[in-house]
This record gives sequence, C-alpha cells and structure tokens, in this order.
Amino acid sequence: MLELNSIRTKLASVKQDHLLRFFDELSSDGKQALLTQIASLDLDAVPSLIETYVKNKPALQLDLATLEPATYYPYNHRAPSRPWDHDKYTTIGEDIIRKGEIAAFVVAGGQGSRLGFDGPKGCFPAGCITQKPLFQLFAEQLLAARARYGIHHVRVGPGSTLVNAGIPWYIMTSPLNHKATVAFFEKHSYFGLSPTSVRFFQQGVLPSFDLATGKILLSSKGEVATNPDGHGGAIRALDLSGALDDMKARGVKHISYFQVDNPHVRIVDPTFIGLHAAAPDSSAQMSSKMLPKVAPDEKLGVFCSMQRQGRRVLDVIEYSDMPADLSAQRLPDGSLRFVAGSIAIHMLSVAMVEKLARNPAFSLPYHRAEKKVPFIDLDSGQPVSPTTNNAVKLERFVFDAIPLCEGSIVYETDRVEEFAPIKNASGTDSVESSKRLQTIRAARWLERCGVAIPKDAAGEPHCVLEISPLTATSADELKGAKLPAAIERGSAVVL
Ligand code: UD1
Repeated sequence: MLELNSIRTKLASVKQDHLLRFFDELSSDGKQALLTQIASLDLDAVPSLIETYVKNKPALQLDLATLEPATYYPYNHRAPSRPWDHDKYTTIGEDIIRKGEIAAFVVAGGQGSRLGFDGPKGCFPAGCITQKPLFQLFAEQLLAARARYGIHHVRVGPGSTLVNAGIPWYIMTSPLNHKATVAFFEKHSYFGLSPTSVRFFQQGVLPSFDLATGKILLSSKGEVATNPDGHGGAIRALDLSGALDDMKARGVKHISYFQVDNPHVRIVDPTFIGLHAAAPDSSAQMSSKMLPKVAPDEKLGVFCSMQRQGRRVLDVIEYSDMPADLSAQRLPDGSLRFVAGSIAIHMLSVAMVEKLARNPAFSLPYHRAEKKVPFIDLDSGQPVSPTTNNAVKLERFVFDAIPLCEGSIVYETDRVEEFAPIKNASGTDSVESSKRLQTIRAARWLERCGVAIPKDAAGEPHCVLEISPLTATSADELKGAKLPAAIERGSAVVL
C-alpha cells in the first residue's frame, strides 16, 4: 500500500487532509484506490489554484487599447477585401493528404452534461434518418478520404515500409468515458476502419473544489471528485500517451483537430490544410476556421488580434469572457465588428505540439467555471446532489495555444456546410437544429447536381435528406453519384 503517513502529511501541508476523513471505513482495495488517486494529483499546485481561481475570480487581462478583430481568409476567395488563390492552396493540401501527412484528432473527453445523454457524446445518434452515431459519421469521412486520396504512410525508422493505413484517427477520452468509448468502437467493428489506425488515449483530470471553502470535494467516501482538465489538456496528453510518437512514426506532420459535437465538420479539407501549411502569414503551427457570428450573444469564442509582450498575436476570447459592449459593436454597414466566431476546428502541426508538450515551462492558463457537483458531506458522510452551483471546476482550452504561435491564420467557412453542432437537448445547437441543417445541406448539394427539391412556403426543403459521407463529403463529390431526378415531397431519402 502507498505510504499512508506520507500522504496524510502531504495533504495536511496543503490543508486537504479531509480527503482521508472516511479512510478507515474503506475496504482494503478502497483504501489503496483512494491513496493511488490522491498520489496522482499535483498537490503542490493546489494552494495557489485555490487562492487564484476558487477564492478569487481572476479577471481576463484584455488590452483594450490594442484589441482588434482578427483578419481572415474569406470563404469567397474572390472577395475584393482579400482575394486569395483557392486552387493553389487546395492542390497543396491534396498533396499533403496523399502523402499521408494528416491525422484526424477528436476531443471527446467532455462531460456532455448539457445534452443530457447517458454515454459518451460521440455515441449520440446524429444521422437525421439513419440515426448513425457521431463517431460513425466521422469514421465514414475517414473511409471516404482513404478511398479518394489513396493515402499511404511511410513507417519511419529502420526497415521503413510503405503502408496504406488511411488517415490515422486519435480519439481523446477522459476517465469518465474511456471504457465506454472503446467498447462502442469494438461493438461496431470500428465502423469499417482498421483498428490499427484508431488510437484512444485519456486526458488528465483536475480536482473539483468546493465553491465556499476551497476544499477539494469527495465524490464518494473513497474517491476524490475530479473533472477532465479541458481540451487544452490535449497538448500534454498527446505526448504522454505516446500518440505524438505514433504520429511521427507514421510520417504525420499535421493534425486535423475537431470537437465531437459537430457532424458537419469537414475533417479532411484540402483547402484549409493548404492554407495552414503554405499561406505566407501562416507559421503552419496552428490554424483555425471561423464563421461570421449571427448575433452578439451567439455562444462562439471570438478571434481577436492584440498586442502582447511586444508582438501582435491572434487569440480567441471565449464567449463567456467577451465584454458584452465589445460583442455588440457594429461597423457602419451594420455587421458585427468582432464577427469571427470560432467553431473549434483547427490544424495543428505535430512539431508545434511536440515543442509545447516537451517544454517543462509550458502551461496554458486555467479557466474557472462554477458547476453543480455531487459530493459527500464531510460531517454526515451522506451524499449530496446540489441544486445550485456548489463547485469550481478548472479547465484549459486548446485555443490558448494560438497566441504562442509565430503566425496563425483564420479561414472562413460556410455555416450550412460545416456547422451543425449537437450541444443541447432542445433549441439552439440541438439535435433538432442539427438534423434540420443536415437536410438543408444535403438539399443544397443535390440542387447543385440538378436534383429538384420540394420546398415549403418558407423555402425550406419539404423532405428529410441524409447523405452518407461514403457517398459524398462535398457538393463536388456528389456530382459523380447516381442520383434521382427529383425528391418526392414529404419523403425521407438516404443517399
Ligand atoms: C466550444 C468552444 C467555443 C466554440 C464552440 C463551437 C470551448 C471552451 N469553447 O464551446 O469557443 O465557439 O465550442 O462549437 O471549447 N472536451 C474534452 N475535454 C474536456 C472538455 C471538453 O474533450 O475536458 C471536448 C468536448 O468533448 C467537446 C469539446 O471539447 O467535443 C467542446 O466542449 P464544450 O465544453 O462543450 O464547449 P462549448 O461550450 O460547446
């Protein structure tokens, strides 16, 4: 058994000895498990975390004098504001994909509490007719990319070999959902992907703190309450898990990063990859996609540019941190001044992740959130399910790595094409809104191929449509498919 006395002394030194309050009531295995969990926590950091983030709410340091909206590559590459060579960057991106230099990376360790779905969010039935789970929709995109680009990897190292493994897919889970996620892939035979090209790894956790006292909470008498450390934890977790070395062994140079909640994400986008890798103002370290926000209070982080330590950097200000008066500012034509909303789609270079993760001094800032966290009452030993926020959770955000880049670009995408997130049980960004957008996008693609779509009085498709990523991942790809001349009014069609 881990040394009880030394752990007790350590806990007392950081004023967290209550974590052993019920130790004597635990079984021998339970005692061992609790000591192991406590030993895995960075207890030295706890007092300053409590002081800085639990007892206080650090204000975001915004230098308003230098803060400006970020510039971006417009979706319309012929826009007079910033014309750019679409075909050139698409060709560069396609070449990178064919050479096997791209990996897909989904952050899927979140708790998904807003959706109220019991299970990993990637298992959520998202296909508007087929109910295919999110993970399957992503897997099918990767199968389609493999067929389209014939991707080969050179296994680097002694006796290097050429393997056709498609685009490797790295899936970040957390202790909350790791087992269930892996079991889901096994049950569904990896949705047709080769298990050797899918790799799961877990992100880290941080203790959850009592809002009133700053003490770390117990979730049961034998377990510390913890929460995943945010998708910013991905940078170190990629390295610690061996995923980064695996990427390097496969010759991967760039990581296509996306969230688990958006079935419309275009995981393998040659134009974005080309801009990231070769645009003159890109350091090819970390690039991002944006959408013009539709309203000041839309819940999207905003790309801004600001002066920091003597240089101008790009950054994302999270929606909850963005001052309302700034969000509401408008240009003379009525459009929002801070318009560039982050949809959490990035390209990251393997070299950048390695540089950050292997620098002992590297750390991303913490963000504080007040939440309801069930806990054990220390006096009665009884479980409590709070109805109001009782805890502080700390997280790191991956986009805080953007200002650390030497040059980071933003590329505008199209809302219907690439953003249909499932975050809430109903209303905005819900399963209903996502399913509606899936039909609207499919109708748009079909119309571009000459298929007649029935419309209702509001001009929306009067049918339900789902296009499998195996059939097409863009309107252009659909052009070669066998299609009906028209869609019947009121029908549900899967292509
Ligand atoms: C997120 C972005 C926001 C962006 C919006 C676009 C953050 C903090 N904010 O908001 O800037 O405009 O999406 O849709 O990300 N995750 C982990 N581990 C964690 C926490 C989260 O893997 O510890 C994953 C989740 O599984 C999910 C993603 O990160 O895939 C987003 O997390 P969520 O907290 O739902 O962010 P949003 O509030 O939707």
